[in-house]
Formats: sequence, structure tokens, C-alpha cells
Amino acid sequence: MKEIINGLSVFLEGSSKHKPIIFVHGFPFDNTMWKAQIDELSEKYFCIAYDIPGLGESPAGDGQFTMESFVDDLEKIIDELKLNKPVLCGLSMGGYISLRALERMQEKFSAIILCDTRADADGNEGKLKRAAAIKRINTEGLAPFAKDFITNCYGDVYKQNHKEEFEKRIAKSSGFNPVGVKGSLLVMLSRTDTSDYLEKIKIPALVICGEFDALTPPLVMKAMADKINGAEFVIIKDSGHMSPIENTKEVNEAIGKFLEKI
Ligand code: MLT
Repeated sequence: MKEIINGLSVFLEGSSKHKPIIFVHGFPFDNTMWKAQIDELSEKYFCIAYDIPGLGESPAGDGQFTMESFVDDLEKIIDELKLNKPVLCGLSMGGYISLRALERMQEKFSAIILCDTRADADGNEGKLKRAAAIKRINTEGLAPFAKDFITNCYGDVYKQNHKEEFEKRIAKSSGFNPVGVKGSLLVMLSRTDTSDYLEKIKIPALVICGEFDALTPPLVMKAMADKINGAEFVIIKDSGHMSPIENTKEVNEAIGKFLEKI
């Protein structure tokens, strides 16, 4: 079922009587990146996935977003749906949003799942890369940037074995509103660093990383997990940055076991 909340497209699967899980997608993707997890988990859990402003089906408006406005959107969804202490599950940019949401309102969540993400903010080199990406989108259009960026996100195993799905992802993201994509780039460029907050996380945490993740590599993620009290760290085989898509079996197993325990 789809609902519009705060102007955003929000997708609900499973019974609202069950424990809620909110899935926050990465960049430049949309809610559909969580399909394999939601297909499996919605029998036992109330699964909520939404499109971040300007990506997927959510409108870009003027593209003037901040990390704070992204967290405001998430809070609005929790409040509108009257969700009782949802589990928060974010990948990459979705992880940045999740960590900032925890920093602002940890008491609203019962557990956190961080997939292929990091707590540190962009350094100077990273900021300049975001600026170059915006310039490239302005001069060449979105498609060449989307193709290169998404190609880096996936590991070789997936790209070789799932050529059609991989090409479809590129085509889908290439059709997003460039204003929204550039808005997300600016949000990531200007986000705050949540590293110092990691040790203050009191809720159960699962940290998942694809073994070949080139954007948020296992060493970076292990160091992050080590700073979260009691966090579980799971490496996903044959996977790059998009572990929930690239190795659905292992990711679903890790999430399923974690949810059973909390
Ligand atoms: C993502 O997957 O959301 C992006 O790789 C995040 C980023 O570019 O920092």
C-alpha cells in the first residue's frame, strides 16, 4: 500500500500490528532497493520504506534539502503512522540519515541496522567530488553520472551475473529528477559527522558490509561497529556496496536473526 506523508511516497507492507521496521534507501536509489528484504520480512514485521525527496516517486520541489530536513521527514512518517519504537534500517546515505536521526531522537527507536555506510562526514576531497558531480550533471545531464556512480556501487560478481537488473537500476536512476539528485549530493556534502555519537548508541545495533564494498569498505565499517556498544558486525560475501540487493540471502539471514534476538 502506498501513502503520501509530508509529500513523500511511503510504501507499507505487512500488518501494522507487527513490529515496525523503517527502511531508508541509499543514493541515487529508491525504496525498491529493499524489495528482497521486505518480501521476506513483511510476514512477521510491519515494513515501511519511503522515497527520499527528489528520488524515486517523491517530488524534488526546489531541491533545497538538508540532512535536518531529511530527518524531519523521517520523524513525520513515524508520527503520522503512529509507529511505536520502529527498528531503523539504512543503507549508505540512508545510514547517514539514520545515524543523525538517532543522534536527534534515539528514544524513538528500538534498534538500528546500518548497511554499507559510515559515520564520518565528507572531507575536503569528498566535498570537491560532490561539487564536480553537480557540475557534471549540469553540463552532461544525469545519465552519465548515474551510470558511473552506480557501476562503482556494485561488486563484480553481481554485475556479471545480473546484467539485466544492473542495467535496469542504471536506467531507473538516470530517469530521476536531476534537481532531486543534486539536492541529495548537497545534503551529503554538508552533513555533520556522527562519529562521536557512536559510543552513545544504547539500542541494539547490527552493522552489515559487503566484502567488496569500495565506497564504505569493511575496515571502515568494522571500526565504526567497534565504537557502538555491543554492535554485531557481519560481512556479506560476494557483495559490493549494495549488499541488500547483491546478496539478499545473507543480508536477509543477518537481519532476520538480529530481529529475532531483540
Ligand atoms: C549511497 O550509496 O547512498 C552513496 O554511496 C553515499 C555517498 O555517496 O556517500
